Amino acid sequence: MSVQKKTDVKVITTHQLQNMKERGEKISMLTAYDFSMATILDAAGVDVLLVGDSASNVMAGHETTLPITLDQMIYHAQSVVRGVRRAFVVVDLPFGSYQGNSSEALRSTIRIMKESGAHGVKIEGGAEIKESITRILSAGVPVMGHLGLTPQSIYKFGTYTVRAKEEAEAQKLIEDAQLLQELGCFAIVLEKIPSELAKRVAENLQIPIIGIGAGPHVDGQVLVVHDMLGINKEFKPRFLRRYADLHTIMTEAVQNYVKDVKDRNFPTEKEAY
Ligand code: KIV
Repeated sequence: MSVQKKTDVKVITTHQLQNMKERGEKISMLTAYDFSMATILDAAGVDVLLVGDSASNVMAGHETTLPITLDQMIYHAQSVVRGVRRAFVVVDLPFGSYQGNSSEALRSTIRIMKESGAHGVKIEGGAEIKESITRILSAGVPVMGHLGLTPQSIYKFGTYTVRAKEEAEAQKLIEDAQLLQELGCFAIVLEKIPSELAKRVAENLQIPIIGIGAGPHVDGQVLVVHDMLGINKEFKPRFLRRYADLHTIMTEAVQNYVKDVKDRNFPTEKEAY
């Protein structure tokens, strides 16, 4: 029996993601924040959909991921889950929903799981949130870790530049990754770290390592969907590959619509009742 919704499609589970790592099949992951986009991404074969707190940036227009609330994350997650038949859906625990203590972390996770129907949560950090991760896992919820550039700590870092270039930070990241695996996380996202370091982590750990700006030698890749579709023109870090120029396509479509309305070319009699 499937633990996800009844469907004729073979759904993705944490076991399948683990099997993918073991047989060397790369894992594809993208962010999603709404029903329509989730429907397209799921049907196109994306393995994991992340309801990322990057919704704070790309959906709400905030400069950082800090302002988005737990209620807002749950709203996005509910919309995504309704559009999914096959993908594994992971939801970010937003800033302020888990840092207080492990009870708060568990309470926030239970709200996400109960109210959205998602399949797991992602949480930023290593040893410092060990208790929270243990508590969430003990409730039977799959946890994805997130190390390297963790955007919720942007005011500590000061910039969005590459993390763990220095030996001490690289060593801490290796130890944190090992700890997350020992605690029972099913996967880890490594964001914006040197490719060689990511390779070392992926080779030494048994669980899947998903990279964003972490090079090609990891077990899978994640991108923010608005960035890879070229909706967002300004953001162009080296690691980003644009697979479409939707900004131009959408702008031209809307300009054509405006022109047709102004010129009385839309609607025609055929488009009327
Ligand atoms: O919120 C997000 O989009 C993320 C990805 C960058 C991994 O955490």
